[in-house]
Amino acid sequence: MEVIIQQDAEAASLLVAKLIAKALRENPFLVLGLATGGTMEAVYAHLVRMHKEEGLDFSLCRTFNLDEYVGLPPDDPNSYRQYMQRHLFSHVNINPRMTHLPNGMAADLDRECDEYEKLIKRFGGVDLQLLGIGRDGHIGFNEPLSALLSRTRVKALTPTTVAQNAIYFGDPHKVPRRAITMGVGTILDARRCLLLATGAHKAEIVAKAVEGPVTAMISATALQLHPKCTVVVDEAAASKLQGHEYYRWIFQTEPEWAEFR
Ligand code: F6R
Repeated sequence: MEVIIQQDAEAASLLVAKLIAKALRENPFLVLGLATGGTMEAVYAHLVRMHKEEGLDFSLCRTFNLDEYVGLPPDDPNSYRQYMQRHLFSHVNINPRMTHLPNGMAADLDRECDEYEKLIKRFGGVDLQLLGIGRDGHIGFNEPLSALLSRTRVKALTPTTVAQNAIYFGDPHKVPRRAITMGVGTILDARRCLLLATGAHKAEIVAKAVEGPVTAMISATALQLHPKCTVVVDEAAASKLQGHEYYRWIFQTEPEWAEFR
């Protein structure tokens, strides 16, 4: 795992967008794993700008989102499908048929989860998986005690997550209580993981996820087992990390980061 600390949320989200853009330029057929949530909005805004101003081409790339609420149709404004439309898909030249999210309205949800796994495999697996982190340490909607080898399945959301997402629904009672999510094992299968966390409210969970013991209570700790995982944080989210001097030194001195300094 490598941790990259940027001055503020703007710089951190720009770096993440640049890393995605670089991967996409190197491989136009990239299979990109996508996340939703407030943190990612800035990343998608940068990607849209790069598409418009720099001609960043999405026409051949394929995407798989981490999760979708159970019980929300794709045209519901609070569905993650609509989130993706709003923040990325409708602004870039991506082929809509190559964008995938689990179907939270499927009659047979278990089967839908199995099909999602198979589809990811059929496309050759995820090359680059974008991740946020919830206050309870979830990645995707892998809430506490998610098996570290879990696959795509239905998960009940914790009260913390329901409260975290209530701002989008206006009324906490309207937040769906379950979601389909890629499993921790599904996420770990991605060739590269890229986690973005910004803001002081994420500092404690980032420190636990990066420097704490690996535990199913905090699914993000499983990323410590991944051979190529980059965690990008702003100063506020990095404020409780013990090894921050070492992480800064890596970013300042390692040749692979020279183009991003
Ligand atoms: C959503 C997802 C979640 C969010 C996390 C952080 O697709 O995967 O794990 O990334 O809940 O959300 P924000 O960015 O709103 O704090």
